[in-house]
Amino acid sequence: MDFKQIFGRAPEAEAIAPGRVNLLGEHTDYNDGFVLPTAIPQCTKVQLGLSTDGQHHFYSKNLDERVSISDMLLTPSGFASYIFGCIQLLEREGYTIPSINLHVSSEVPIGSGLSSSAALEVATLRGLRSMLNLPIDDVRIAQIAQQAEIHYAGVQCGIMDQMASSLADTKHILFLDTRSLQTRVLPLPTGAEILVIDSGVPRTLAGSGYNQRRAECEEAARLLRVKALRDITDVSALEELPLPLRRRARHVVTEDNRVLEVLQGVSTQRFGELMNASHASLRDDYEVSVPALDTLVGLLQETPGVFGARLTGAGFGGASVALVASAEARAIAEAVLERYNRAGYLGQILVPSVS
Ligand code: GLA
Repeated sequence: MDFKQIFGRAPEAEAIAPGRVNLLGEHTDYNDGFVLPTAIPQCTKVQLGLSTDGQHHFYSKNLDERVSISDMLLTPSGFASYIFGCIQLLEREGYTIPSINLHVSSEVPIGSGLSSSAALEVATLRGLRSMLNLPIDDVRIAQIAQQAEIHYAGVQCGIMDQMASSLADTKHILFLDTRSLQTRVLPLPTGAEILVIDSGVPRTLAGSGYNQRRAECEEAARLLRVKALRDITDVSALEELPLPLRRRARHVVTEDNRVLEVLQGVSTQRFGELMNASHASLRDDYEVSVPALDTLVGLLQETPGVFGARLTGAGFGGASVALVASAEARAIAEAVLERYNRAGYLGQILVPSVS
């Protein structure tokens, strides 16, 4: 149902924000490191208007679910928690947010590691900025969105997803230094396009496993007496760490170096090799892959026309990303999916999108 059918009048403002896929630089953002995401075509859209009964009302078209907030001391669950978090954080910044009606509809797949939650947060904040003329820029939006994720969804995430949703587009790669928040817009690798295939395996451990990896990295940085693992550039400095911290830190340090190599300018071939190396590192050192993703990524890597492939996002399930020869994405995807599904899985092509 649309906004008018739910709330009885037309919306006063609307905004959209995209999901993202990360090409390189995984599990580096909460180590103050470097990332290379790009926006995907799928977006989340919010429409808003003032509510007349003193309560916030949120409606998700995808879930056909309506949540009303009568007590601002009680955080709702599910999709409403992200919207609620954004409102609470804006109020904590000193802005007065009136009671609102908010309608959300999303094309960003949920649970595939393509940042559906960041897209919802950024779209919500953009919508509120537009309706209330709030003086917040796109970087501030990303920072508030990240706080909403940490404090209201309970994931100790870095800032990549929210920065990507707030600043990236589908035609470029966004290089981000997550310590300084400096960005650089890079062209997509020459002669290549992006292919995203979902493994069909939901990210079951994404919350607990993710927070545990983050704690391991912080412990490694403490033992190495640096502010964050970003401050280590040479893996030989990791020798003194006990296992598994040494392996976790080795992933982060080598992954940062891979991103910095891309920043120097590399061929599409080399970009692909770095993606393959990233997957091996995430699988063996960081241990966030699962058999389904290893199978899918392996099939992609051995297919002609594929420069490189890896899991994308937090891991523990979700999607793979590949860099493939221009205009060949769909044919490659269909060939790979057929073999993947024959192995007993149920994958799905997410980018290029069908719409
Ligand atoms: C999730 C988090 C990000 C980032 C990635 C892994 O998407 O939200 O901050 O840590 O995992 O690179």
